[in-house]
Amino acid sequence: MLHDKTIIVTGAASGIGAETARQLKAAGARVIAVDRNEPAAEVDAFDKIDLTDEAALDAVIEDLRKVKADGLANIAGVPPTLPPEVVVTVNLVALKRLTLGLVDSLADNASIVNLASLAGIGWEGEVAKIKAADSLTHAGVADFCARNGVTAENSYFFTKQAVVAWTLENRWTWRGRGIRMNAVSPGPVETPILKDFLETLGERAEEDMKVMDRPGTPADIAPVVVFLLSRGSGWLRGVNIAADGGMRSHIDATSNGLV
Ligand SMILES: NC(=O)c1ccc[n+]([C@@H]2O[C@H](COP(=O)([O-])OP(=O)(O)OC[C@H]3O[C@@H](n4cnc5c(N)ncnc54)[C@H](O)[C@@H]3O)[C@@H](O)[C@H]2O)c1
Repeated sequence: MLHDKTIIVTGAASGIGAETARQLKAAGARVIAVDRNEPAAEVDAFDKIDLTDEAALDAVIEDLRKVKADGLANIAGVPPTLPPEVVVTVNLVALKRLTLGLVDSLADNASIVNLASLAGIGWEGEVAKIKAADSLTHAGVADFCARNGVTAENSYFFTKQAVVAWTLENRWTWRGRGIRMNAVSPGPVETPILKDFLETLGERAEEDMKVMDRPGTPADIAPVVVFLLSRGSGWLRGVNIAADGGMRSHIDATSNGLV
């Protein structure tokens, strides 16, 4: 399915990114991992980098631009228990910088997939703040958070809302070259950061977990990312696939008067 395709995967050292790298290799792809830690799966190349380090990120971009990759899976992310500046930098600013730095070096018909979250729900109410973050750089994050009320309570939600919105905005940006961007929004998934989400979300998470039959696993999410990276999803543009055991459907149904 992805035989001989080259895919760049951030966050490949753990959880969803590690499983995605493993499944991409199984599908015949050449995988280039980008992470601050060693990749968990066997990969073809590895760029060790902390995404909060702007200069190091730019050096990796320079390196990866030589590759002409067929896909980019932006999976690296941090939970809301970290300082809001780190959450905004990793989950939003670095994701956009890497993508925009690479996009004109990608092969025609390349696919870009962003890992958002069920936490990205409600982005429609945050458009002003999302637009204010449009050209945010690493150096501007602390000031942006202070001016826009981005705190430990809302940083994770804001970054995932902004990623969903950015994916929509880019539905046709590179259409002339067949390059497309889509997102995947998991619900709670059993990875090392699940406990951090539950801690931050408190009662709301307890309610969610009661409604769910079970939390997801990386193996529930990775195939959706692999599908979006492959040609079979070629006419999907700017979509955000809810991979969450029906949580998003449940919210949509019950908040609109359905059972
Ligand atoms: N686990 C969940 O419940 C859940 C739910 C919805 C969305 N997500 C999203 O899925 C993505 C993957 O998360 P996961 O659950 O697999 O978590 P994880 O902690 O298992 O994996 C995250 C990966 O990102 C890397 N990373 C984090 N900060 C980095 C940095 N500064 N520089 C370089 N690499 C860095 C980590 O080293 C790790 O390999 C994240 O974007 C997360 O927000 C997770």
